[in-house]
Amino acid sequence: MQRHAVLSRLITGAAGLRRRRQTPSASVSPSLFSSSSKRLDHPDERRASASRASTSAPSAPRYVLGIETSCDDTAAAVVSESGEVLGESILSSVDLQAKFGGVVPNLARQAHEDAIDGVVAEALHAAQLEPPDLSGVAVTIGPGLSLCLKVGVLKAREVAHLGGCPLIPVHHMEAHALVARALAAASSYDDDPSSSAQPAPAFPFLALLVSGGHNLLVLVEGLGVYKILGTTLDDAVGEAYDKVARLLGLDLSRGGGPAVEELALSGDAEAHAFPVPLKNSRDKAKNCDFSFAGLKTSVRTAVERTIGIGGGGGGGLEVGEEAARAKVKADIAASFQRVAVEHLCLRTRTAVLWARETHPGLGEIVVAGGVASNRTLRRELEALALDLDLKLVCPPPRYCTDNGVMVAWTGMERLRAGVGVGECPETPRPEEGEWVELRPRWPLGDLDPRCSQQRQKIRSAKTKNIKMSLTQETALLMAADKARLQRT
Ligand code: KG4
Ligand code: ZN
Repeated sequence: MQRHAVLSRLITGAAGLRRRRQTPSASVSPSLFSSSSKRLDHPDERRASASRASTSAPSAPRYVLGIETSCDDTAAAVVSESGEVLGESILSSVDLQAKFGGVVPNLARQAHEDAIDGVVAEALHAAQLEPPDLSGVAVTIGPGLSLCLKVGVLKAREVAHLGGCPLIPVHHMEAHALVARALAAASSYDDDPSSSAQPAPAFPFLALLVSGGHNLLVLVEGLGVYKILGTTLDDAVGEAYDKVARLLGLDLSRGGGPAVEELALSGDAEAHAFPVPLKNSRDKAKNCDFSFAGLKTSVRTAVERTIGIGGGGGGGLEVGEEAARAKVKADIAASFQRVAVEHLCLRTRTAVLWARETHPGLGEIVVAGGVASNRTLRRELEALALDLDLKLVCPPPRYCTDNGVMVAWTGMERLRAGVGVGECPETPRPEEGEWVELRPRWPLGDLDPRCSQQRQKIRSAKTKNIKMSLTQETALLMAADKARLQRT
């Protein structure tokens, strides 16, 4: 097996034939992105709808199951070809991890193992489908924690084998970027009126992807075709939110980000003049890179000076001054959030200008990933988009954080385009010595030459095991397909 196996061979096996299933040719039904779809409650109604939506194979409605286990959420969902969410289920171990101050890989793996069968069964049950009804099983194979990814991949393999359908390997950040394209259908499931009736973005669009491990500005030129305009030089913004929550001693059972956001509501965002990252640095001020390490340090210093790390005393306040302590915490949270959001928005503004150099008609910006559920960020991006004459597309908050729908939808897009679709596993479990490929470190695309990291050509030991990017692989797949077509 080659080191850089192409996507269609990602899940490999011991010697022997694989059951193959014909993948469909590229076609995108206009109805897929219609913003008028509504929730269909009866499964027959859903099936009929999905079948109507399929222009390429009207007699074969397609349903894709998506499985996500890259971090601390065990999630599964079934979507139809028209983007309807037929069933979904999610179990988070964030409260368990919170007791240990962050994600502990072995604990997370155990939590996924305990949850995976139930979560997948629940999603299928809600969709009233069985594995043989599925047209594909999509699963996140990276980036993420290997131990965790493996749980999802093994389950996906089992279901795909049972269903006799292909396994579709998915890049976690691609899934965050693309979930907005299923938005028209997905938003009908959301109770946030501000996120309904949004347009589904068409390629090309700009995506700001903000999660616990990634902070990217990406020009999404097509399925599997990504140009990274900016990335983080140190931490991701979600990581910074989690750290600030710990410094302030907040309840982490729902995650650090939501805790800081809630506390910030009662704080004075101007109380602390934390410097905006990279704003005044000579060469980095004008690019799209991010940095949150300095902001984290500023917050730490402010906490040490006032309430003490963990917010439980030991700083400048007397123990017992509870109201004052709460006010200081809220002010720090609000000031941190103001600066973090300003940094994200400034970089996004530059990215829009860069993107318009090659795509002058760029009309949409998508924000996704866990931090995209933050209301202050959404509000400020809305103002930025208005200023730049762009449409801002925010998935409903629950589709910003990790979920099964984004994986199922990405699988559906790949199935429809016939790009990066794997084979049907011959056995439900890997055989002795069989290698299951996971991609804990997996770039989404190439860095724009103006990125600091690209200029520095970082070659640390850490980067040695990085796979070729999804975008490079997509290009290889397309070239191979073209060559095959020319031969026949
Ligand atoms: O995308 P995601 O669910 O998982 C990863 O792929 O990392 O993102 C999780 C991150 C966490 O760091 C969490 O604290 C942050 O998103 N987050 C938020 C909010 N909700 C989740 N950050 C700020 N405000 C929020 N409302
Ligand atoms: Zn994520």
